[in-house]
Order: sequence, then structure tokens, then C-alpha cells
Amino acid sequence: MEVIIKETYEAMSRAAAHEVARLLNTKPNAVLGMATGSTPLGLYQELVRLHREEGLDFSQVTTFNLDEYVGLQPDHPQSYHYFMHENFFKHVNVPQQNIYIPSGNTSNYRAFCGWYEQRIEECGGIDLQILGIGSDGHVAFNEPGSSLTSRTRLKTLAKQTIDDNARFFDKAEDVPIYAITMGVGTILEARELILLANGDNKAWAVGAAIEGPVTGMVTASALQMHPYAKVYLDSPSATQLKMRDYYDWIEEHRPGAPQSL
Ligand code: PGA
Repeated sequence: MEVIIKETYEAMSRAAAHEVARLLNTKPNAVLGMATGSTPLGLYQELVRLHREEGLDFSQVTTFNLDEYVGLQPDHPQSYHYFMHENFFKHVNVPQQNIYIPSGNTSNYRAFCGWYEQRIEECGGIDLQILGIGSDGHVAFNEPGSSLTSRTRLKTLAKQTIDDNARFFDKAEDVPIYAITMGVGTILEARELILLANGDNKAWAVGAAIEGPVTGMVTASALQMHPYAKVYLDSPSATQLKMRDYYDWIEEHRPGAPQSL
């Protein structure tokens, strides 16, 4: 796992966006795994800027989102369909037919989840998956206790997640209790992972995910099992890392480091 700590949220977002751009420049028809929440907003803004100002092209890209709330219509302002459209898709040129977001309104969740997994496979698998982390250490909606081999499925949200996400809704009771989410096993099959975290409210989860034991109680810790996982952090989210000096040392020496490719 590579840990990249930037001073600010903006610098962290730019660095992560350039990682996505690097992939698209070498593989224009890449399959991207997309995340929602407040964390990746800066990354999406930078990708939109790169599209507008530097011609970063998404015309051959396919995307799969991690998760969606159950029971919200796609045009509900807090649905992840709406989020993705407003914050990313309406500003770039991903073809509509290449955009996949789990349905929060299907009549048969088991069948839908199977179909979603199958579509990922038929599209050649996810090249690069963008991830956030919950304050309880979850990735996507894989709450503490999730199986590390889990697949896309219906999941009951933890109280902590509902409390965290209540800030986006008028009242906590409006936060859906269920979500459909890619599993940890699904996520680990992506060829590259980039996890972003910012803010001191994520410091515990970041420490547990990067330096704690691999455990279903902190599903982001499963990234330790992945061969190409990068974690982009701002400074406040990195305060509980015991190896902080080592991560900074690596960054400092990166310009002169031997190239592995
Ligand atoms: P946030 O959510 O980006 O809004 O903090 C992250 C998550 O719960 O995965």
C-alpha cells in the first residue's frame, strides 16, 4: 500500500485526479469505479477541469458506482444517481450508456446484484476503483462485520453511518437504512485502488485501515491485501499514523526513486 500525504484537501484531490488521468492517457477505454460522498468532490472537480482545459477524454470510459441508497428515486437530491450526475457526469463526456450505478429501486435486489457483478465482468473488470472511507472504517457501504469476500448485495447501514450522513438530509430519520453496495471482494478485484480521506474525523479510521490488523471490523483494512492500492490523505486525516515519518520520507525521495516501470 502506498500512502501519499498532502498538506491540504485540494492538493490531495489534485494528486488523486492525476492518477486517474494517467490511467486514461494510457487506456482511454478504462473502466472506472466511482465513489460518492463529500471526499471525492475535489477529485471530480479536478477531473472536470482537466476535461475542460486539457482535453481529458472520457468518451470511451465505462463507470461503475460503488453503492446507492435503497428507496430514493434517481432524481432525489441525496441519491447517488443525482450526486454523480450533478458533480461529475453532466460536466464530462462519459457516454450515458456506459454509466452504471446500482439501482435503489429494483423489485428484486438479489437478481439486480448478480446482474451488476456480471456487467462488471463483461466490461472486463474495473481498472481503477476510487474509494472513500467512513468514520467507522467502511469502504462503500461495507459496514463493520462485513465479510472480506462479500459481493454486491443489500446492506443495512450502521448507526454511525446514518449519523454521519444525516448532515445531507433534513433530519436523521430521512437517511435510508438500507443500501445496495459492491462487496469488499468485488472491490478487491479492481486492478488498482485509490482511497481518499480528509479531515480529522477520519484519522482513527485511516490509522486502523492502513496500520491496523486486516479485519472485517474495518473493511478498508482489506486494502492491505491488494497489490496496487494507493491512499491519498490530507494532513489532518493522517495524524494517527505511526509510520508517518516513513511515508513522508518516501514522498521526499520520490523524484529520485528508481522507476519500476
Ligand atoms: P464522506 O463519506 O466522503 O462523505 O465522508 C465517505 C464514506 O462514508 O465512505
